[in-house]
Amino acid sequence: MDIVTKIKEWDRLRDDPSLRGKTIGFVPTMGAIHKGHLSLVRRCVEENDLTVVSIFVNPTQFNDPSDLESYPRNFEADRTILEKAGTDYIFLPKYGELYPNGYRYKVIETDFSKKLCGAYRPGHFDGVLTIVMKLLNIIRAHRAYFGEKDYQQYQLIKGMAKAFFLKTEIVPCPIVREADGLACSSRNMLLSPEERKTAPLFHKFLATDLPDDKIRKKLESAGFTVDYIETIGTRRYGAVRLGEVRLIDNINLENE
Ligand code: PAJ
Repeated sequence: MDIVTKIKEWDRLRDDPSLRGKTIGFVPTMGAIHKGHLSLVRRCVEENDLTVVSIFVNPTQFNDPSDLESYPRNFEADRTILEKAGTDYIFLPKYGELYPNGYRYKVIETDFSKKLCGAYRPGHFDGVLTIVMKLLNIIRAHRAYFGEKDYQQYQLIKGMAKAFFLKTEIVPCPIVREADGLACSSRNMLLSPEERKTAPLFHKFLATDLPDDKIRKKLESAGFTVDYIETIGTRRYGAVRLGEVRLIDNINLENE
């Protein structure tokens, strides 16, 4: 497994004649690799000749500076896990490499990105779409893998790829959960032992057939601060906070 930090270096590898006819799969991440990320990497390894995983904690998608600061970073552990899972390249760029002109140029979606998480995290999806556009253009993969855990993010990226005629296929992957139902997330490790015990109730209540406002009340009684519980079409989305830690989840109501 090789670690690539520069775009020029990746371009040389990507354009090498030995790669002709080979498929390249790509998994963008912000590191602190867990079982959820690994399910994407494993699928990517299965479906492609080469797998590239990027690790970049993207500052433009953090609307809250303390969230950015506390975001878990653990490169040595990530590197070992990713190598074991069959990753061929880790793309590990610095801020200046990806934002040579700062944040003057942005990709903005004007409708769905303003709803749900977008309403509570102003500018969040501008940052996500901008960095994903940059990464997809740099890596030039055949397929890129995204988790349904961040379902709104997945839908916006899929829409962006269609709107801008991107050549990379956007592949959705199912949510991976802990045994108690809590969706795996890098932020789970920031929960106190007490909060970690409460956290699985989020998924449990979200998956009941109660209306959204009843679920909100049950979560509030259990000690969560609720940003939103909202059903759109056949999917129920939720975002809650336990102390300083923000958790998101969603349920396909057709499967429940
Ligand atoms: P990050 O939170 O590191 O997640 C990387 C990918 O892993 C995303 O596609 C996310 O949906 C997926 N993922 C995380 N937890 C998962 C779980 N429990 N089950 C299935 N998939 C899961 O999402 C981001 O990073 C960033 O916004 C990024 C797309 C990299 C842009 O900066």
